[in-house]
Amino acid sequence: MAEGDFLPYGRQTIEEDDIAAVAAALRGELLTTGPLVPAFETAFAATVGAEHAVACSSGTAALHLALLALDVRPGEAVIVPAVTFVATANCARYVGAEPVFADVDPESGLMTEQTLRAALARLGGRRLAAVLPVHLTGSVGDLPAIRAIADGLGASVVEDACHALGTWTDFGAGAEHAGDARRSAMATFSFHPVKTIATGEGGMVTTNDAVLARRLALLRSHGITREAAAFQAVDISLQPDGAANPWANEMQALGFNYRLPDVLCALGLSQLAKLARFAARRRTLAARYRGSLAPLAPLVRPAAVPAGCDPAPHLFVVLADFEAAGTSRASVMHALEARGIGTQVHYIPVHRQPYHRERCGDVDLPGADAWYARCLSLPLFPAMADEDVDRVAAALGKALGA
Ligand SMILES: Cc1ncc(COP(=O)(O)O)c(C=O)c1O
Repeated sequence: MAEGDFLPYGRQTIEEDDIAAVAAALRGELLTTGPLVPAFETAFAATVGAEHAVACSSGTAALHLALLALDVRPGEAVIVPAVTFVATANCARYVGAEPVFADVDPESGLMTEQTLRAALARLGGRRLAAVLPVHLTGSVGDLPAIRAIADGLGASVVEDACHALGTWTDFGAGAEHAGDARRSAMATFSFHPVKTIATGEGGMVTTNDAVLARRLALLRSHGITREAAAFQAVDISLQPDGAANPWANEMQALGFNYRLPDVLCALGLSQLAKLARFAARRRTLAARYRGSLAPLAPLVRPAAVPAGCDPAPHLFVVLADFEAAGTSRASVMHALEARGIGTQVHYIPVHRQPYHRERCGDVDLPGADAWYARCLSLPLFPAMADEDVDRVAAALGKALGA
């Protein structure tokens, strides 16, 4: 970034060819469901190594669709980590289920095998329908262990991979792309502007299950199908010779309008082609942060990354001991802002948000509290220069009096 520019904690990278791709789509016949939707889905599925990808209007819609596709029922339980964006827990409420908050590892912010087991003790007799591990900041935790626990209880795993596009993990069976849904029923992604690729609003669900993929596609568009082979209402949809009526469409489930329009799929395709470059730049910037921040240890440490995980970091979170530095997080954020540096807190633990607290009561989750007390997200986006990282690290040191 040019000297003097304000550094937000995250921002999109939109280039001239992205703009040209959108302009070309605007000149096409179909602004909404057209050929660019399956083109984006096919390219996305190939990129993350899943068999199916279903585009939708946001990461929140992706989570909602995933729980609908699993037929999660009112009164069932869905386990979510307390440190996440509120949408991970809200999607359980959307289907009438009860989000049960799991604690997180205080150094990585991730749900672990142990914190998941502890959450099981708080199901209150409800059937566990799903577990939603969140790949916070782009780091993936111990999915095989989480999957084994869920399998043992007949529950599904849905990965909230909204932060993790471009991340690789190795659980001992070779490199796996985060969100390939090899170790889950489905994985969800977001293309909100601060994410690794952006479509403005936008989301995706990946799966290797053809039945789930069909259900997701049905539910994202009002529950309506136009596929003759799927028609159920013979009297309405079919002619006596068995041919489909030209107007035929059937609403077979209560779905939503969660479609991602062609115009945004054009942007998604164009952005996806740059994923390797964006992810590489994020990795380089994160590595530089580690070097520049090293002198501030132990007052400031980067959030821990699990062994075997090579994140394409969505966020660069440091854990700082503000109290030991004789200051507060708010003062540090103000001091950095005065120097043109934006920071954020990811996240206020969701069980402490008034809406959820009213419903789940006071739950003691010390790992989430310890993460929340220390976390601070520093600027991280591909257009940053190496010198921006050094400037942020120096300003942080100064703000902490280090
Ligand atoms: C972890 C996580 N899950 C879900 C979402 C929801 O995505 P969207 O903003 O695209 O609805 C976000 C977005 O911020 C997120 O960070």
